[in-house]
Amino acid sequence: MRSMGSLKQGVVSRRKLLVGLLLLFYFYGGVLLIMDCVVVVSGIGVNWGTQATHPLPPSTVVRMLKDNGIDRVKLFDADSKYLNALANSGIQVMVGIPNEMLSTLASSVQAAENWVAKNVSSHVSSNGVDIRYVAVGNEPFLPTFNGTFIGTTLPALQNIQAALIKAGLGTRIKVTVPLNADVYQSQSNLPSEGDLRTDIHDLMLQILKFLSDNGGPFTVNIYPFISLYKDPSFPIDFAFFDSNSSPINDNGRVYENVFDANYDTLVWALQKNGFGNLSIIVGEIGWPTDGDKNANLKFAQRFNQGFMSRVNAGKGTPMRSGAIDAYLFSLIDEDAKSIQPGNFERHWGLLYFDGQPKYQLSLGNGRNGLVAAKDVHYLAQKWCVMSPSASLADPQVAASVSYACGNADCTSLGYGTSCGNLDARGNISYAFNSYYQINNQLDSACRFPNLSAVTTTNPSTGDCLFRIMIKTDTTAGAGERRLSRSVGLLAYILTFVFIIM
Ligand SMILES: *[C@@H]1O[C@H](CO)[C@@H](O)[C@H](O)[C@H]1NC(C)=O
Ligand SMILES: *[C@@H]1O[C@H](CO)[C@@H](O)[C@H](O)[C@H]1NC(C)=O
Ligand SMILES: *[C@@H]1O[C@H](CO)[C@@H](O)[C@H](O)[C@H]1NC(C)=O
Ligand SMILES: *[C@@H]1O[C@H](CO)[C@@H](O)[C@H](O)[C@H]1NC(C)=O
Ligand SMILES: *[C@@H]1O[C@H](CO)[C@@H](O)[C@H](O)[C@H]1NC(C)=O
Repeated sequence: MRSMGSLKQGVVSRRKLLVGLLLLFYFYGGVLLIMDCVVVVSGIGVNWGTQATHPLPPSTVVRMLKDNGIDRVKLFDADSKYLNALANSGIQVMVGIPNEMLSTLASSVQAAENWVAKNVSSHVSSNGVDIRYVAVGNEPFLPTFNGTFIGTTLPALQNIQAALIKAGLGTRIKVTVPLNADVYQSQSNLPSEGDLRTDIHDLMLQILKFLSDNGGPFTVNIYPFISLYKDPSFPIDFAFFDSNSSPINDNGRVYENVFDANYDTLVWALQKNGFGNLSIIVGEIGWPTDGDKNANLKFAQRFNQGFMSRVNAGKGTPMRSGAIDAYLFSLIDEDAKSIQPGNFERHWGLLYFDGQPKYQLSLGNGRNGLVAAKDVHYLAQKWCVMSPSASLADPQVAASVSYACGNADCTSLGYGTSCGNLDARGNISYAFNSYYQINNQLDSACRFPNLSAVTTTNPSTGDCLFRIMIKTDTTAGAGERRLSRSVGLLAYILTFVFIIM
């Protein structure tokens, strides 16, 4: 709605112009206003991560974004493969700088200028990519990083900001640092006791001042799912927006869900330190669908729909009444992500890896559910399973499964997961199939000694999906990978035979 004031001013100063011109101007202003309102109403972004063994082609993803009316996207780097696909799409983009680049960009103004020239300026000017933000680092102050990025994040932020200004992009593109919600805390469970984390208090103050001076937003990732995952006694209902659990009363402000309480803890922390007006972007919010007993379709649907409904209602929190600016995490599943945080890590997508929606979700932009990716090409309808003649007592079973899972993806097996109810043979088949599909159905990837066989009967049952991968356009690269993987399997088989003998 910002354009309203300036347009009114414009109209006043042009009073003496011809009536026709005035009318044209009003009309144009009206269109702008309507467009602005649409942006506010349907304003949800998504995170587009790309750590997958079989990623959809970037152009397929961009078309899917448009089909779903998603007009903002957040990337984790600035790979030209994705930016090229976003050219002239009308989609606003937040590009990212991986933590590993922070020290280079912190120590060299020239490196920052090169980064901006190559990864921002060229796309904005000649490629028509609507870049609006640069995210410098990603959750750089997580305790697991042992302070590695404490000294480099702010200098990198400063150098990138200076480089953007030098490139003439200082007003159009804002810098920010996506931070985990652990950079602030409350001594009690009351938001009003919120303050910055003590070990990084001074650094955070400098970052807040820098963002404030440069019009950059504070970007925070908020994960009620992780609260639940880490604390089994967490009141599960409080994680959702339609909660029935007893609310927290903070001096008259009532909190019915953990998101509001967490967001307002941040608002209080900002306010207490003199930056109560800093704008806030929720950089990541979402719920995974597999890999943990609380990660399932039902909970993910409940959480994301609850969140979207309030975003669309323009409803803020008790401390900040305005609309919430957010990016859902995430667009599609990524089967090559590290599972160090937990098996759920590969299942954050609103859509499966192949662009198929997982559940009914209305983003509130007139569409009733998510629209699937179009023109997706799959590998053949065949699966690798434990052969009917193989015995569970075969001494090679354990090592074979462990090899398959170590090199593929077994995060849908285990207590409370989508394939958690498979029997022992089903488990083994799932592991074999995952390995076979990730290796593009290579014959040699279904040669677990005397244990496996290829079938054309789909072994999937209920929610437990035995996947078939999609064809990717990187045939050459995949070929090399396939080769080294099958050499790996051969080496393993030989080693095993050797041990047996
Ligand atoms: C541009 O971004 C890519 C991907 O993040 C990175 O690999 C590359 O080094 C960047 N280019 C420059 C000149 O810094
Ligand atoms: C952080 O420190 C711990 C303990 O010293 C170590 O095990 C871990 O590998 C370190 N992590 C990183 C990212 O440096
Ligand atoms: C915050 O914004 C309000 C309204 O725009 C303004 O009146 C106030 O002075 C601002 N406070 C600070 C600390 O900038
Ligand atoms: C199937 O595999 C999972 C994960 O490895 C394990 O927890 C479960 O006990 C297995 N089930 C059977 C019946 O072997
Ligand atoms: C596979 O089974 C055959 C016949 O049962 C046996 O001779 C052979 O040693 C087995 N191979 C391995 C690798 O266990």
